Amino acid sequence: MGDKTLLVFSLVPGRHYEAIASFYYNNDAWATPLGFRVTESEKVIIKVYSNTRTYSALTRGVDVVLNIARDPSLYLYTSFKNIYREWRRVIQFEKGVKVDAPRIVNAEAYIELKPTCIQYEVDHVKITYNIVGIYPGKPRLEPHSRCIGHIIDTIIYLTKIRDVRDVKLREKYRLMLALSLELVRKTCDPNLFNIVNEIENIYRRLTGDMEVPGPR
Ligand SMILES: Cc1cc2nc3c(=O)[nH]c(=O)nc-3n(C[C@H](O)[C@H](O)[C@H](O)COP(=O)(O)O)c2cc1C
Repeated sequence: MGDKTLLVFSLVPGRHYEAIASFYYNNDAWATPLGFRVTESEKVIIKVYSNTRTYSALTRGVDVVLNIARDPSLYLYTSFKNIYREWRRVIQFEKGVKVDAPRIVNAEAYIELKPTCIQYEVDHVKITYNIVGIYPGKPRLEPHSRCIGHIIDTIIYLTKIRDVRDVKLREKYRLMLALSLELVRKTCDPNLFNIVNEIENIYRRLTGDMEVPGPR
């Protein structure tokens, strides 16, 4: 795209961002939270761990939409699709504009991507994409709060507790989850208590541990 593409979102080359990637997987719309970085030359790089459905789809070279969203429930439902089996009723899709990929209707903004290069590493792939469309939505200014960031962090740690086999690493993520949950409890408003309860329930379900970590 053009010279100033990155400025549309104030994207800083090299900085790590989080989004929800959507794409077609076996002809169905699929969505999963993924981190991404942009380069000085306005490419997007995504790193995907193996043994996931996302890995199978993206290594086939499909187009992708990065859905920019703050609503933590979108991250929770798309991370735990096997638990929220009805996730497609909550998360609705529409067609992307310049790509053969779906986008999430209730996301706030979109970046459309076409793959250009796939680099295989031991337990993951790095895929480079060209930005072919950018849809910034309505800009919204809000004071910095740690609330949403920490909720999304707790969801990341839950996916690690689910996916990582190494016992020491799992313990590290359990401690990180405890710290983030403590901050979530301190900084979030009552509208988000439901989602915090869901996160605590998933923790219990994944670990069999009834005691959710962190002070209350
Ligand atoms: C905010 C967030 C960011 C994530 N970033 C990545 C990532 O960059 N790469 C990755 O492989 N998994 C990442 N994950 C974990 C994947 O979302 C998780 O493996 C996914 O739910 C697997 O889904 P699938 O079965 O649809 O492939 C992230 C999870 C969250 C909550």
